[in-house]
Amino acid sequence: MTAPWWRSAVVYQIYPRSFLDTDGDGVGDLEGIRRRLDHLTWLGVDALWLSPIYPSPMADFGYDVADHRDVDPVFGDLAAFDRLVTEAHDRGLRVLLDWVPNHTSDRHPWFVAARSSRHDPQRDWYIWRDRPTNWTSAFGTGAAWTRDEATDQYYLHHFLPQQPDLNWANPEVVEAMHGVLYFWLDRGVDGFRADVVHLLGRDPAFPDDPPERVGSSRVGTHDEPVTHALLRGIRGMLDGYAGDRVMVGEVNLADSAAIAAYYGRGDELHLAFNFGLLFAPWDAARWREVIAEVLAAYTPADAWPTWVLSNHDQPRHRTRYGSAGRARAAAVALLTLPGTPFLYAGEELGLAHAEIPPERALDPDGRDGCRAPIPWQPGPAHGWASAQPWLPWPPEPDAHSAARLREDPGSILHLYRRLLAARRASPALTGGEFAWLDAPPGVLAYTRTTGQDRRTVLVNHTDDSQPTGLDGAHEVVVSSRGEGDRRTLAPSQALLLRS
Ligand code: GLC
Repeated sequence: MTAPWWRSAVVYQIYPRSFLDTDGDGVGDLEGIRRRLDHLTWLGVDALWLSPIYPSPMADFGYDVADHRDVDPVFGDLAAFDRLVTEAHDRGLRVLLDWVPNHTSDRHPWFVAARSSRHDPQRDWYIWRDRPTNWTSAFGTGAAWTRDEATDQYYLHHFLPQQPDLNWANPEVVEAMHGVLYFWLDRGVDGFRADVVHLLGRDPAFPDDPPERVGSSRVGTHDEPVTHALLRGIRGMLDGYAGDRVMVGEVNLADSAAIAAYYGRGDELHLAFNFGLLFAPWDAARWREVIAEVLAAYTPADAWPTWVLSNHDQPRHRTRYGSAGRARAAAVALLTLPGTPFLYAGEELGLAHAEIPPERALDPDGRDGCRAPIPWQPGPAHGWASAQPWLPWPPEPDAHSAARLREDPGSILHLYRRLLAARRASPALTGGEFAWLDAPPGVLAYTRTTGQDRRTVLVNHTDDSQPTGLDGAHEVVVSSRGEGDRRTLAPSQALLLRS
């Protein structure tokens, strides 16, 4: 049996509003993504995942879907989407869409119908109660229940009041949401990223939270057994569809063993995000703990890990880890650990988190800084059709523009490209066994091995030089900075070696 494509793939996340604007409205669009497909093939990634592109009032910038089967005019239309998929496929790139199953927009026709009357046939597609529980929603917006005045009941929303939660206990909802998957599969997509998919199942008793938990959102702790049956239903329909489609789920739990359970027995999610490194500080001991915990929880379950340094919800890792050198070293780990790496557009340009002046802040949860527009060229508009994008540019946009970095073989962009090529060329890196190596404190060291193919990875988390202890049998394949010397690691340097 050959391994499915997504085990050896590298996925590149695009936040469509921020990628490239071609029509001058200051917001990125599908045509902008199409025009930059060559950037992705030149870089060497295998798949792209688009954050939501559906019609939306944009209360949560697309994670409030008002129509699952269309494209918001700000991004283009279905024809532009079809063109993008065809041209991506022509280049050998797969396309994943964000699927938002837990909630819809309050403007979605389903919710408009549901709230129109207690007797509406779609009332039960959402979750209504005469009395709310004491649950708190995410984004600091207060209670997870909002009273609908006209019908005098409360509806549940784990996020904004404009994002009512769907009722997955209703088989009509299950069928409708499966129908959404079929709609996009029929248009040729290769898979989905499922938003907060661990929230779907509910305890029918709707118990109050214990007093100490009141005031914090339930998104990081909700873990109901009934969700697993829903995931098996989704997996069954995806696997029954022609071709090997993938679903990667966002399971926002802190515990790796709890996340691994969402792979089921190979019959639930194909992949689940692991945000360990997204929340870890730049500290070798902590990284080792995170990696060891994930591998210990996932390996026995045959659950294939994923690795993420940045996404559209958290400050960019260039800023979190504290320096450009650290971001470069982190890339070496990201692309050599066992599992499927997810890159977030702009990390290959070494973008720092953008400072957003208060008068330009837009996101209800303060996440604008990681969503700043991608600078493609030096100059005031940076390759965008408008010099006034929806959010301010990230720091030093000229120096970090794709065009500038491409001219400089020593740039972080070329480092990502070299790492992706080295990964593609090595069965040990895409699928080999993992083992820890002894190393000085502050250095993370491991090997990856398949038969004769063996790679050694060293990541110096300290600000001092460190001896590697490696002999002449090791040859540097990629160095995060400078040429690289197998005997010594410079401060914040990482090496990938053939051994
Ligand atoms: C996920 C998304 C986030 C969104 C939330 C609600 O966590 O990543 O951007 O706001 O779900 O849909």
